[in-house]
Amino acid sequence: MYTQEQTLQIKKLSEQLLQSTEKKNISVAIESLRKVLRFHEYRYYVMNDPLVSDFEYDQLYKLLEKIEEENPQLITKDSPTQRVGSSLNAGFETVQHLVPMLSLENSYNADDLIDWDRKAKELTGLDKIEYCIEPKFDGASISLIYENDILICAATRGDGVEGEDITNNIKQIRSIPLSAPFAEYGIQQIEIRGEVIMSKKSFTKYNDWLAEQGQSALANPRNAASGSLRMKDPKEVAKRNLEAFLYHVSYYIKDDRIKMTDDSKNVHSVNRQPSTVNLLNTHAGTLQLLWECGFRSPQKEKLVVHGIDEVIKHVHDFEEMRDTLPYEIDGMVVKVNDFALQDKMGMTTHHPRWAIAFKFKARQATTKLINVEFQVGRTGAVTPVAKLNPVYIGGVTVSSISVHNEEYIKEKDLKLGDHVLIERAGDVIPQIVKSLPELRDGTETEIEFPTHCPVCNSKLFKEETEAVWRCINIECEAQVVERIIHFVSKDAMDIKSFGEANVRKFYELKLLKDIPGIYHLDFNAFNSIEGFGKKSIDNLQAAIEASKQQPLHRLIYALGIRFVGETTAKTLANAIENLFDLQHKSEEELKQLEDVGVKVAQSIFQFFHNEQNIEMLYELQKAGLQFKNEKREAIAAGGLSGQTFLFTGTLAKLKRSEAEAMAEQHGGKIVTGVSAKLNYLVVGEDAGSKLEKAKKINTIKIITEDEFLQLVNQ
Ligand code: IVH
Repeated sequence: MYTQEQTLQIKKLSEQLLQSTEKKNISVAIESLRKVLRFHEYRYYVMNDPLVSDFEYDQLYKLLEKIEEENPQLITKDSPTQRVGSSLNAGFETVQHLVPMLSLENSYNADDLIDWDRKAKELTGLDKIEYCIEPKFDGASISLIYENDILICAATRGDGVEGEDITNNIKQIRSIPLSAPFAEYGIQQIEIRGEVIMSKKSFTKYNDWLAEQGQSALANPRNAASGSLRMKDPKEVAKRNLEAFLYHVSYYIKDDRIKMTDDSKNVHSVNRQPSTVNLLNTHAGTLQLLWECGFRSPQKEKLVVHGIDEVIKHVHDFEEMRDTLPYEIDGMVVKVNDFALQDKMGMTTHHPRWAIAFKFKARQATTKLINVEFQVGRTGAVTPVAKLNPVYIGGVTVSSISVHNEEYIKEKDLKLGDHVLIERAGDVIPQIVKSLPELRDGTETEIEFPTHCPVCNSKLFKEETEAVWRCINIECEAQVVERIIHFVSKDAMDIKSFGEANVRKFYELKLLKDIPGIYHLDFNAFNSIEGFGKKSIDNLQAAIEASKQQPLHRLIYALGIRFVGETTAKTLANAIENLFDLQHKSEEELKQLEDVGVKVAQSIFQFFHNEQNIEMLYELQKAGLQFKNEKREAIAAGGLSGQTFLFTGTLAKLKRSEAEAMAEQHGGKIVTGVSAKLNYLVVGEDAGSKLEKAKKINTIKIITEDEFLQLVNQ
């Protein structure tokens, strides 16, 4: 047992030793430090009852690291710094996927499937295709690499090109074997893909536990699974009872030197029946191989059928019984079974052409509307939010839904106490379909709209042309907080690790009162905030510092000027050299800019003629934010200045949005249609009518993606 006091004493002694030239006691000090660290780890992880804060623990750990760095001969295998597997994940390393992790094309009805089958037949030249159908698991995709039978790396999907190394966490999932007998199949290295899921039962149990701890519930099993995979502590992951289905082999390396003996066949086999076929010729064979090697593949859940009619029947039958499954599925996946045909069909940059997801229909549920709360947004708009009896629907627990405005409430005939029908389709935000007036018992009451702001109590106003009521007090606390949240958000200044929860917390604690305050935070005051270790403070500080370099258009968007979205922000940034130039532009001048109409021009003009706003801008400039248009400076020096670009078809190397951003970064402009004003049409795979149209206009240069990249690099 080391009390906090004893811990600090040992820390102090070690620090002194580190600084002195006296090295003889260092091995004694290092061992006591380790003992202290092990003890506190035990208190934290095993007993769940820490005696020191994260910050204090970090300090001890860093001290040990430093002493070990200076005295490498004293490092022992069991030092807390040398842990593998069960240690905390100190941030996840990026891993490059050798084969990109693609997505799937979606279909929603029989016609979509018939269409897809027609294309498949055209591409393969066959008149009937063999398909393998399996559930579409609603979880988080993963990739596993086994080398010489050992799991060596597990990664998240990430953006499909790069994921994160989550090996330590994956090792906590018992349905994923740490070693598998691939050598028996002559396979030296293999990459397997699948889905990590949390069963409905574990999800409910986990949420009950969270509720007991006074923590808020997780929204759905999918979020629970993907959140768990990125947890710092693998032991926490272990507690969540995750499961995994593996359904795809993206590559494997055969090694003929591996000798297969009859004996070896009996060593690890789990579900194995000796097989003679080369399993890796068909999708169904792959599922069997994975099953034989001890993985949970949808071996029993899959069905191989001939032709699309049988597919349509099966997906509908399966939809009928989806609620009887112990886990969530959001549809079925139909795959061409024969790999030779799959190769013939190929893939786009987004999805394989040989597979399609059939998405199940939106699910509906009824619940009771208990209350309506009114929330004040960034621009003062007051939005009614319906509070419902929590109901589990389509994989999510829904307890509140925006009901937009007064007219919407009237249209849907909503009253307090009503039973309402709600619907959720896939990733779509849940909606109220209608109220159920036939279930009323007379106790229902009208939803009263407030006349005054629920936060600052000033009178609300509504413009004739608008449906929303607004609080026009610019200092209203709700608006101030929302404006700060918008400022730090991903598409605006993208201040990582700030986020909505932190903005609210800092505002409540009076550490932050307005946007410029972000750049004057008193970090010393943060030590006392729960959950804020040194590392989080360092990260936050670094992110705030980095945001000062954000380009001007992001800053303009971040200011939250009404009607100024990301596109208008870019137009404005391109039209000026310094942010303060906007102060001197008349409404007329603003209206000359593309996409800037009367309303937008008026709003921008008003913003730059408001004293408080100008004061805020001066403070931000003083804090060192980027007020100059760097791009214009770059254009002056050359680049693609004045050239217009349009992209068509599927690009092989870049995403469409990346290519457009690249063109813009070099001074080019993106246009939406083919006309004489277009300078370059960049053509990808399957380009259609735009290409045909462009060919008729002599002045347009038609170039490939590679030629575009060359142009940019010039
Ligand atoms: S096949 C190239 N099969 O759905 C192989 N994906 O919406 C592409 N998913 O990213 C994936 N169940 O994470 C495949 N049986 C299944 C699946 C499945 C779930 C996920 C997968 C994919 C996403 C696309």
